[in-house]
Amino acid sequence: MADRKQALLDRLAALNEAALAGGGPARHARQHANGKLTARERIEALLDTDSFVELDRLVTHRCTDFGMEHNKIPGDGVVTGYGEVGGKKIFIFAQDFTVFGGSLSETYAAKICKIMDMAMRVGAPVVGLNDSGGARIQEGVQSLAGYAEIFYRNVAASGVVPQISVIMGPCAGGAVYSPAITDFVIMVKKTSFMFITGPEVIRTVTHEVVTQEELGGAETHASTSGVAHFACDDEKQAAAVARELLSYLPANNLEGPPSIVTQDPTDRRDAALEELVPFDPMKPYDMAEVIGHVVDDGRFLQVHADWARNILCGFARLGGRSVGVVANQPAVLAGCLDIDASVKAARFVRFCDAFHIPLVTFVDVPGFLPGTAQEYGGIIRHGAKLLYAYAEATVPKITVITRKAYGGAYDVMSSKHIRGDLNYAWPSAEIAVMGAEGAVKIIHRQAIAAAADPVAAKDTYVAEYTDLFANPFKAAELGYIDDVISARETRPRLISALSLLEGKRDQMPAKKHGNIPL
Ligand code: HXC
Repeated sequence: MADRKQALLDRLAALNEAALAGGGPARHARQHANGKLTARERIEALLDTDSFVELDRLVTHRCTDFGMEHNKIPGDGVVTGYGEVGGKKIFIFAQDFTVFGGSLSETYAAKICKIMDMAMRVGAPVVGLNDSGGARIQEGVQSLAGYAEIFYRNVAASGVVPQISVIMGPCAGGAVYSPAITDFVIMVKKTSFMFITGPEVIRTVTHEVVTQEELGGAETHASTSGVAHFACDDEKQAAAVARELLSYLPANNLEGPPSIVTQDPTDRRDAALEELVPFDPMKPYDMAEVIGHVVDDGRFLQVHADWARNILCGFARLGGRSVGVVANQPAVLAGCLDIDASVKAARFVRFCDAFHIPLVTFVDVPGFLPGTAQEYGGIIRHGAKLLYAYAEATVPKITVITRKAYGGAYDVMSSKHIRGDLNYAWPSAEIAVMGAEGAVKIIHRQAIAAAADPVAAKDTYVAEYTDLFANPFKAAELGYIDDVISARETRPRLISALSLLEGKRDQMPAKKHGNIPL
């Protein structure tokens, strides 16, 4: 009896050892030489110390082709389980490139699906660490089925628990669609890449010559395609970004957003804000700086910092409460809304709404970007996404107009009319159909042309229009904004508004789902 017990313990020890060894020391060394950590090292870097609990460590594949029945490694190329980040439970999987190139088998997919199902049942975020050669070639269609099972769960979990993908190696072909459905994609520069078809196929089909890095590296996706929300210098930084991101998020859609104790006084009035916005409406300034002066400790975690830079989206805290911040950026394209900016902000707004994170919107927008590229690209349907997202959002919505709020863009940017809860304007705000120069050219074109001195006539009309419309007072008179506040009052006003709106109850009419113009 004792012998049998010892035999079982020895067998377990051997299996555990084999699971921990993964693809073996040579492949681990290759991983390190390539500037990459192993799957278990990555989990360690991301989770709180000693918090990881592994599941399915002894799972193996069931493939019997190509001699695979004699080639099994416990765990089968993916490490799955749960642990804590900042003391809060999350589920995690890490693809192990040292085992069959991290390629996905039927049982490997089942391991990922198991933790995704559990995450939805208990209401905890899922973080996936991706480093894989794709579908396990020896398994064929079973591997494809496994991917689809994961995709289905990505969709089912969307809006139920936050999902974060960290790309730390190859992620190619249809495999990219799991990260694409998740809420945030974090990539590592130089060592990760994502594409549907690689450089070789592209060269054959379209004769374009492009490197892997140019085609699907972190910088490409963070600045050109918008596929990645963050591009990190190395894996440690990627883990730190994932941890910080999680700190702003609730565990699931039934929880309120997290709140922490802050040392930054809630009644802090920042005089520097009075000087940040140039009086001349044509002069740019950095809206990120404005946000920095308002939020707790100046910390603003920008999402998509390098893509569609004419709009800023990101997380911050006000009085310790997590908020999603959306802001026009006058320093880039004068803060115009274009296709990418609309898509970027719409998805961010919908994420915040799904997880009850209040939205704080800073407005300085001259309108939608003119031009054939935008019109042919479908700015009408893309711009509508942002309008739709703001209108359907039922979270607290607080708006601060710092300067321009012109035309349709005024309506879109969380205006009162699409159910902004508290809308403030600084005295420098200009809420109008368009800027003075453009307006007088249209309404006084003939009078200016007929005037003895057209330049002087135009200046007179511009002065008249500016006096009438280039201010926040007409909108205040109509109750379209709730108050004109001095810039330095912004922080205490926002914190007071968030506190007021904590118990906000609002909903759209019952429906299966709306039809956002995708
Ligand atoms: C099985 C694989 C594998 C795969 C890599 N390996 N990819 N095993 N299935 N898909 C194994 C290799 O045989 C090798 O085993 C080890 O992983 C490391 O691979 P290397 O080629 O030596 O590594 P590297 O030079 O770094 O190149 C990495 C790579 C390359 C670029 C990912 O391996 C590659 O191109 N793999 C094939 C990618 C692919 O075509 N996948 C299927 C695509 S379809 P040893 O024993 O030598 O260490 C797909 C779509 C999914 O994925 C569809 C979802 C809907």
